[in-house]
Amino acid sequence: MARSIGILGTGKAVPKKAFKNDDFVKHGLDTSDEWIMDRTGIRQRYIVEDETTSSLCIEAAEHAIKSAGIDRDTIDAVIVATTTPDYPVFPSVACLVQAGLGLREVAAFDLSAACSGFIYATEVATQMLKGGHYRHILVLGADTLSRVCDWRDRSTVVLFGDGAGAVILGDVKKGYGVLSTKLGSRGKDFDKLIIPIGGTKTPITAENVDSPDRYLKMDGKAVYKFAVNIIVGIIEEALTLAHLKKEDITFFVPHQANKRIIEYAREKLGLSVDQVYVNIDRYGNTSAASIPIALSEANDKGLLKSGDVVVTVGFGAGLTYGTSIIKWA
Ligand code: COA
Repeated sequence: MARSIGILGTGKAVPKKAFKNDDFVKHGLDTSDEWIMDRTGIRQRYIVEDETTSSLCIEAAEHAIKSAGIDRDTIDAVIVATTTPDYPVFPSVACLVQAGLGLREVAAFDLSAACSGFIYATEVATQMLKGGHYRHILVLGADTLSRVCDWRDRSTVVLFGDGAGAVILGDVKKGYGVLSTKLGSRGKDFDKLIIPIGGTKTPITAENVDSPDRYLKMDGKAVYKFAVNIIVGIIEEALTLAHLKKEDITFFVPHQANKRIIEYAREKLGLSVDQVYVNIDRYGNTSAASIPIALSEANDKGLLKSGDVVVTVGFGAGLTYGTSIIKWA
């Protein structure tokens, strides 16, 4: 009989240092708290100093293990969704997490799908668990995009923050857990959100080391349009796969990229303000971490009840997108 797989526990971690909008002005950037709040809904974000993607993952994972109430020896795999690993090529963050948590020598790998990464990783873990050979899988979404932003570029650096979110996936009551998932990509628009230099195509050299192309570049308007065009359609497709309708949604946990995008989706889905989790004001866009951080906070606040239909949706570089319909166990 097919297993029902769901979220057993959640956790999150952010760096110690809060960076307010006005701190960018102090930093010499031609911007303002008013502009950033008005266009994005972001008031502050957390920025790494001595923390790393893996150290944030380990902290978030410890919370998730505790929240799930499981023995860490029953974790049979670790998947980290990230595009900002501690090291440029290898080792993976997942291997650092496996060692840092003192796990057995289990499967550990990173997954690259940018801001949609957590939804991709959840789907991979769910299918691995349904295959029957794993008991629990630790799934993390974590990024430290402050390390790859151009701090001279006001159009991008103000948007992002650092953090990690974690879940433990495993068996839940029959009919509960992840009901359906829809993933997608639009690779033809790969250049809309990109770090052009520093990969194997164009390695860093003495000539290009100071180029702005070493940092994150984004066509903000194109990404905005992409997001509002895909979000509602993919959620409707996933709801249909789960034999549900928009009216069945209890709680909406969207990727936190821009409050205007979230508001657009909320209206189209016919949801009330109370049905949507929003924390972009405190964290900014934490990329792959944004959905599991939001899930962790909503769970800690007791906002997620057994039987609730929780919808997550993400979009980002690639371009990639994904949504999951989860019946909270
Ligand atoms: N402070 C002050 N002014 C700024 C600014 C900042 N931080 N960033 C840009 N501006 C200026 C621009 O230079 C431009 O000035 P100009 O009219 O003199 O040229 C003006 O503000 C408007 O810029 P524009 O890019 O048209 O703003 P926008 O309304 O499209 O908002 C984003 C920009 C980035 C907030 C918006 O496009 C967005 O959120 N896009 C989606 C991004 C996203 O979600 N990315 C992550 C995907 S995971």
